[in-house]
Amino acid sequence: MASEGKNLVGVDIGSTSIKVCEVVEARRGGGRKLVRFGFHPLPPETIVDGSVMNSGAVVEGLERLFHKQKRRNVALRASGHSVIIKKISMPLMTPAELQEQIGWEAEQHIPFDLAEVYIDHQVLQRKEMEGQMEVLLVAAKKEEINDLTNLAAEARLKTLCVDLDAFTVQNVFETGYGVPTPEETVVLIHVGASLTTVNILAGGTTSFTRDIANGGNAITEDIQRQLGIGREEAEAYKHGGDGRGIVPREVPEIINQVVEQLAGEVQRSLDFYLATSGDRQLSRILVSGGTANVRALLDAIRTRAGVPVDVLDPLRAATPDTKIDPMEFQGRAAQAAVALGLSLRKERERNE
Ligand SMILES: Nc1ncnc2c1ncn2[C@@H]1O[C@H](COP(=O)(O)OP(=O)(O)OP(=O)(O)O)[C@@H](O)[C@H]1O
Ligand SMILES: [Mg+2]
Repeated sequence: MASEGKNLVGVDIGSTSIKVCEVVEARRGGGRKLVRFGFHPLPPETIVDGSVMNSGAVVEGLERLFHKQKRRNVALRASGHSVIIKKISMPLMTPAELQEQIGWEAEQHIPFDLAEVYIDHQVLQRKEMEGQMEVLLVAAKKEEINDLTNLAAEARLKTLCVDLDAFTVQNVFETGYGVPTPEETVVLIHVGASLTTVNILAGGTTSFTRDIANGGNAITEDIQRQLGIGREEAEAYKHGGDGRGIVPREVPEIINQVVEQLAGEVQRSLDFYLATSGDRQLSRILVSGGTANVRALLDAIRTRAGVPVDVLDPLRAATPDTKIDPMEFQGRAAQAAVALGLSLRKERERNE
């Protein structure tokens, strides 16, 4: 994707918090700087299963995060709940021909009324020898995308671009770590509070994506239920204590139980991919999202997959400016991956 113009402000409205990143790109390879990071926690039940239940809380959060900010052209994160992604095979054709054909193709592959969805596509791979190409087809429900952009508009933000966790994290990874070689198979796993996204890059492109409706909330809820305590207390224990380092001895065991289940679901996706991808082997796994801070989860994924598992460092894609308070960012780096990926998008982009 070639791009030009100024960077958009990345706005990730997650189910537990809003994250904002602003990146400035120096001209002619002068590097990229993260000049702003904003974080605003949202009250429980603000967003449920991808639907905004408490729009007031979201608009208020956005207004706070953008108080006195001049740059108001944003790239928003859309929840995977409202989106369908399909990889399809088509005969080789020019971009203009593809543009004409794609609606017809979408009709065959998308189980929604086409009038109700936005369609986007990207050519993943041209197989000249076989006369075929692989195309990624993305369909997003108009109603949910419009609800989101309307919320942003209420906070006087102009949405120029909407993207998904999987692709924004991929953008951060490719920018910070480099595009994988054709032989490498890299798994990017983004684990938020309510949603986990698996994106497997192989042959230099997205080869497999899957959403799992599970995340860090499941750990908090189990601690709450098993210890009979409130959400805030359970969150504090999950984060490693209540500030005085005292955690009931049952907590690590509860965390392990939930994490094993989540790692099992992730491994089923990896197994499915491996069973259908010939003799490919995974090279490495990188985990992002707030729940990447749970070490037991990384260990459980590593044990099953048998390859190196690390936390993705989004700051490899953009160096923090001295204006950013390191305390504000501390412990939130993995959580900032999506907002940072969105902030790499430009005001004017052209698909190639
Ligand atoms: N240090 C930590 N230790 C354990 N868990 C953590 C830590 N930091 C954040 N989390 C957990 O990460 C989750 C929040 O992550 P994130 O901000 O990526 O989610 P979100 O974007 O709000 O949710 P989603 O995208 O799933 O709607 C919460 O479940 C939170 O408890
Ligand atoms: Mg999120």
